[in-house]
Amino acid sequence: MALKAGIIGAGGISRCHLHGYRELGDRVEVVSCCDIEPGKAQRYAEEYGLKSYYDNCYDMLKNEDLDLVSVTTWNSAHAECAIAALNAGCHVICEKPMAMNAKEAQAMADAAEKNGRLLMIGFVRRHGNDAYLAKELVDNGDLGEVYFAKASYLRRAGFPGGWFGDKSRSGGGPLIDLGVHVIDLVKYVIGNPKPVSVYGATFDKIGARDHIRHGGWVSESAVEKPIFTVEDLAVAMIRFDTGAVLQVETSFNLNTKSGSGDIEIFGNKAGLTFSPFELHTEKGDRLADITLAGDNGFDFSRDFDREIKNFVDAVEGKAACIAPAADGVALMKILDAIYESARIGKSVDIVW
Ligand SMILES: NC(=O)c1ccc[n+]([C@@H]2O[C@H](COP(=O)([O-])OP(=O)(O)OC[C@H]3O[C@@H](n4cnc5c(N)ncnc54)[C@H](O)[C@@H]3O)[C@@H](O)[C@H]2O)c1
Repeated sequence: MALKAGIIGAGGISRCHLHGYRELGDRVEVVSCCDIEPGKAQRYAEEYGLKSYYDNCYDMLKNEDLDLVSVTTWNSAHAECAIAALNAGCHVICEKPMAMNAKEAQAMADAAEKNGRLLMIGFVRRHGNDAYLAKELVDNGDLGEVYFAKASYLRRAGFPGGWFGDKSRSGGGPLIDLGVHVIDLVKYVIGNPKPVSVYGATFDKIGARDHIRHGGWVSESAVEKPIFTVEDLAVAMIRFDTGAVLQVETSFNLNTKSGSGDIEIFGNKAGLTFSPFELHTEKGDRLADITLAGDNGFDFSRDFDREIKNFVDAVEGKAACIAPAADGVALMKILDAIYESARIGKSVDIVW
């Protein structure tokens, strides 16, 4: 019998979850959705042929006998909705960032534990071919000892608009929206070391830059005169218990060259860049740059499908969950510490 799925938050990214479930054929039926914006859940249910729709998650969870729930609301509702779904006995996949802060994230992880349900975090970048291959190279020792990495996710003019600029709903700007992807990706690839301290700084020197038509991705929630109470640039150094250090820089808006930014991982035998996917090393008395043949990239649509498949496989005991709740909590501890360090102007230790 098909597992029954419901969606909380019928916005942009929920469609990627829906697509992923439907790719699984008769293993999953998406039966219901809810959204607090009047009329939105109904339109969504009609567009995608769902059996029911609601204007809040509590009624959906009470009336529908769901096995799986996708939490795809804005960030400030993740904890409340995920905990409600876990308490209703559902397995949950929650979009990144896991929550507004580590305290909320821990409460979600505790609810999963208490109810004996899976809580997976939507770290979609873990499901790309680049992540698979980079992890394999690091695990095989091809890079040697990894001691430094750089994760740069810079947009020159790329504020998505809408709630993404409203700190009360997003929790922050590019750090919590974009930085979360690349910090998690590097941490995952280099073996999930424990973060121990950070030094961070945030800036708001450019603001929304919404007079520029940037042609990039724009949120469904975008409005003409957006709120902008978040940082536009964040930078940080994260130290792990292995001694490795990760340098991060991430922006919505920055006066940089368009398309700048990469992920680089440095070991004493070889270094690795993601764009292009290349190893930098030495052979005899020469420096050597090695390009690996094949598809070594991230593909948004394919990798969302893989993420949802991994969620369902893990629920059915067919695979290990690639992005468990504990990793989401660790990531929120890093983000909390970066924002705190930026606030006080000093480095911050991460308490475990
Ligand atoms: N993995 C990725 O690459 C990726 C990309 C974009 C967005 N996201 C994440 O997905 C989430 C949603 O982003 P989006 O772009 O789809 O936003 P969106 O604004 O398009 O959709 C969010 C929806 O949630 C609804 N909502 C808010 N609170 C709710 C509640 N308590 N109950 C029910 N519905 C509620 C809103 O009304 C809205 O319709 C965010 O956490 C974002 O960070 C992830």
